Amino acid sequence: MFQTETFAADEAGVLKAAAHLSAGSLVAFPTETVYGLGGDARNGQAVARIFNAKGRPHFNPLIVHVPDIETARSVALFDETARNLAQAFWPGPLTLVLPLADGHGLADLVTAGLTSVAVRVPAHPVARALLHSFGGPLAAPSANPSGRISPTTAAHVQSGLSGKIAAVLDGGACAVGLESTIVGGTPLALLRPGGLATEDIEAITGPLAPAGPAISAPGQLASHYAPNQRVRLNATAAEADEVMLGFGPMPSDLNLSTSGDLVEAAANLFGHLHQLDSLGQPIAVAPIPDLGLGQAINDRLRRAAAPRQPI
Ligand code: TXA
Ligand code: MG
Repeated sequence: MFQTETFAADEAGVLKAAAHLSAGSLVAFPTETVYGLGGDARNGQAVARIFNAKGRPHFNPLIVHVPDIETARSVALFDETARNLAQAFWPGPLTLVLPLADGHGLADLVTAGLTSVAVRVPAHPVARALLHSFGGPLAAPSANPSGRISPTTAAHVQSGLSGKIAAVLDGGACAVGLESTIVGGTPLALLRPGGLATEDIEAITGPLAPAGPAISAPGQLASHYAPNQRVRLNATAAEADEVMLGFGPMPSDLNLSTSGDLVEAAANLFGHLHQLDSLGQPIAVAPIPDLGLGQAINDRLRRAAAPRQPI
């Protein structure tokens, strides 16, 4: 355990916060919606620490925060509708789920191994100052422990995450107090109602598809990356035709963490699964301890190993 510092949202505080982020540590920061728990979206271990700090029992894709549309275009592909929405509502409480751009540089864990990414340009001046000072994309879910309500003050963040993150930038109370509205998919669907009214979006896009069916439809909210190859869990060794995804010191084709570090393992999970999957052989996976981040890793591995639903 260490002390979670509260930084005033002045130039010095923003610089200290950016330095923590550059070192792969986590900093909570105010946005106009709720406080976000920020980590470097290009650094898999920083992203793994976000799930660890929140105590999330599963990995779902996180929103990537960027300072402007230009930067957003370096991570995501914008069609005309997306461009129009970004121009109308950014900076602001709107998140767009778009296809990943080539050379996006984001960690696999941010997108939970998907080929789409959720991006947003926050309006809060402190969030913007932090993004500029840090100079990279920030993954940031709401800065609360899993299952608790979203924080709208620095004190809320401290009461939930004290001792689990490096610092919180205190920018006062959030104006909106409700997470951003999320749209994405084809046809464009409302994936999560939020701080921007649906009617305002529909004035530009026409009627949005409803969230329900869109979310369960394959490839939409689909946070469920599944390998093509059969996956066998709790394997102590590979069988003749299998490739081995190891954990801890053991013979393996790829190892999530030879030292048995769950943060490192989480950061490697999706990338290693993708790589082994591309070899075209069934995948055996070593047992992962079911504690801390291991629970989220095991949740995802169970989904990867589950019998496929015909689509
Ligand atoms: O207001 C907000 O949006 C706050 C502040 C901190 O910016 N952030 C926030 O982030 O709520 P987060 O990471 O908790 O929201 C993630 C939501 C989830 O519902 C997730 O399923 C969806 O975004 N999401 C992220 N990536 C996605 C993707 N590729 N496809 C579909 N949904 C995605
Ligand atoms: Mg949340």
